[in-house]
Parts: sequence; C-alpha cells; structure tokens
Amino acid sequence: MQNHTVLFVDDEVNILKALQRLLRNEPIDVLTANSPSEAFELIERAGPQVIVSDQRMPEMSGVDFLSSVRDRHSDVVRMMLTGYTDMTIAVEAINKGEIYRLITKPWNDEELKATLRQAFDHYDLKAEIKRLNSVTREQNFKLQDMNKNLEEKVRERTKQLDGKNTELRTAYIQTIRALAEAIDAKDAYTRGHSERVAVYASRIARGMNLRKELIERVYFAGLLHDVGKIGIPDAIITKPDRLNEAEYEEIKRHPEIGAKILEPVEFLRSVVPCVRHHHEWYDGCQHGYPDRLAGDQIPLPSRVIVVADTVEAMTSDRPYRKALPIDIVVKEMHKYSGTQFDPVVVDAFLKLLEDEGDAFISKDQKFDIYAFIEG
Ligand SMILES: [Fe+2]
Ligand SMILES: [Fe+2]
Repeated sequence: MQNHTVLFVDDEVNILKALQRLLRNEPIDVLTANSPSEAFELIERAGPQVIVSDQRMPEMSGVDFLSSVRDRHSDVVRMMLTGYTDMTIAVEAINKGEIYRLITKPWNDEELKATLRQAFDHYDLKAEIKRLNSVTREQNFKLQDMNKNLEEKVRERTKQLDGKNTELRTAYIQTIRALAEAIDAKDAYTRGHSERVAVYASRIARGMNLRKELIERVYFAGLLHDVGKIGIPDAIITKPDRLNEAEYEEIKRHPEIGAKILEPVEFLRSVVPCVRHHHEWYDGCQHGYPDRLAGDQIPLPSRVIVVADTVEAMTSDRPYRKALPIDIVVKEMHKYSGTQFDPVVVDAFLKLLEDEGDAFISKDQKFDIYAFIEG
C-alpha cells in the first residue's frame, strides 16, 4: 500500500506548523500549503490521499477550493478545518458532499489524529472497491469475449452439424426410398405406391395442422408402411386373382414383419409403431390387425396412412380392375369414416379434395418433404 500523505492548506503559517508538530511521530507524510494555488501544485506532484483545508483564506474560500479539488481529483478525501463562525457554510459543504468531515478550530489533538486515520481508511476502502470493480469489469469483459468466441464456435459447429445432418438425412431418405421402391417393384401394379401414400399422407397431415415432426414421421412411415411385404412370398403378392384365406392371413403379417425390419434402425424408431398399426381399424373391430387397437390407441400417423393407403389403392389400376374415379373414393371414405377410418383424418382428406380437386391424386413422384414442411 502506498504511503499515507495528508496536505494541510491554511493561510496561517502557525497553524500549519502546529499541525506538522502534532503529526511528527505518526506514520503519515505531512505536506503543507499556504494557499490554494500552492496546494494544487503539491497535489499534482505528491498526490496526497487526504486534504485538510481552512475555510477562510484570502485567495479562495475553503469550500470553493475543495470543490475544485473534487472536480479534478475526485478520489482525494477532503476535510475542512473551520472556526465556529464558518459553521453554516461548512455544514452546507458537507451536505452537498463536497467534504468528508469537518474539524473545528481549535481542534482536539487525539480527535484530529483519529479523524485523519478514518479519512485514510476511507480512502483505502474506496480505492480497494475501485480496484475490485475494475477487476470485475475486466473479468466480465474477458467472459464476454469468451462467450462471444464460444457462441461463434457453437454457431460454426451447428452449421457444420446441420450440413452433416442434411447430408445424413438425404442419404437416409434415399435409402428408405430405395427400400420402398424395392417393395413396390415386386408387383408392377404397386409401383410407386409407397411414395404416393407417403405424399398423400403427409399432405393430409399438413392439412390437419400436425406439427413438423409428426408430418415428417407420417411421410417416412408412409414410405415404409408396406416394407414388411418383402417377407411375403412373391406368388402371393403378385397373384392377380382373389386371395384365399391362407394367403390373406399370410399377407396380414406384413405390418408386423415391417416393424421387425425397422426396429433396429435408430433413426426410424418412432416410425416403427406407425408401420405396425397401419391396418388397424378405428373402431377396433376384428378386421383390424395385428393388435386390433382402437381410436387413440392407434398412432396418429397410422390413422393418416390408412386413409392415404386406401385412396392410393383405389385410384390406381389393379390386375382385376381399372383405377376408380374420385367420387367413388369419396363415397367409400364417408361410408367407413368412424369404423375403419378416423373421422378427423377423413374430414381433412375431403377438405383437401374440395380445395384441390383431382390434382390431389398426383402421380408426380418428385417430392421434397422438407421443402414441403417449410412451405
Ligand atoms: Fe399395408
Ligand atoms: Fe399399402
């Protein structure tokens, strides 16, 4: 810690001498000045922490002097030495915050020493607070800097990750599409079925205002809903005639097989139940399979897919019939709304049909699910 220095300012030399004598044995450097102008010089040169000024001086009043010290050296602790006659002015000066303490003339030696010690303590404390504040401020700046750097790094990483994710996602979609195409290709009549079901289903999902992840799930589940057909003998899948009961039972295994195939794929975990339940009936009757779930027990994407699946199948050529016109599809939807189909999904589909007409049944295979969701 720096030496404690006090500067006394008084036009009376005797007073200055008395003060010097008083503090001779104290661990304080004592400076004296006869006038404010001399005092300013000393302040610049010696940097006292405490200044004690007389009030009545010919050149300038003590209050004025100390207030200009405050303006130029705000850290310096200012005190006034004053006779009783100057008390009003001095008290006012204290109240205005110009000075720290008042010492009355004639002073009590011990009191004066104690007051000086307090003044130095006051100075040291303020200096310490100032130092701590500046350390804190500096650390804050450093922290802010670090934060900024971190944020930038995180942003950059996120961007890289986003890029990687998009790449991965695209790769996945391609794989899934290839898989779906492979299933559909087993039968010339169902070529493109899965992709169209995915597109119809996600359109309906968007019409229902489902949230983004759900629309995405509907799309993937739509693409993959019949993936289990890969495990069904080709002879059954491509059989042009009506299936017998045993063959039908065999076909009915495809949702379960599909779910088994997809289960190990982390990325498709949420799609698995949607695939498993895409042939349940909304009313839970025995036509539904594999678990005869009803209503809300059936995953929402499955309820959307079953409508899209039916619409796609009806509007496509089959070996035993041509594609059916849309009004037949509408009739079928009305007929089975509430039994096979979730009425909410049927309504959403009919609303889309009303808005888009035949254009809804589009055979256009170019479809970007993410552009679609964002759009
Ligand atoms: Fe199916
Ligand atoms: Fe299907």
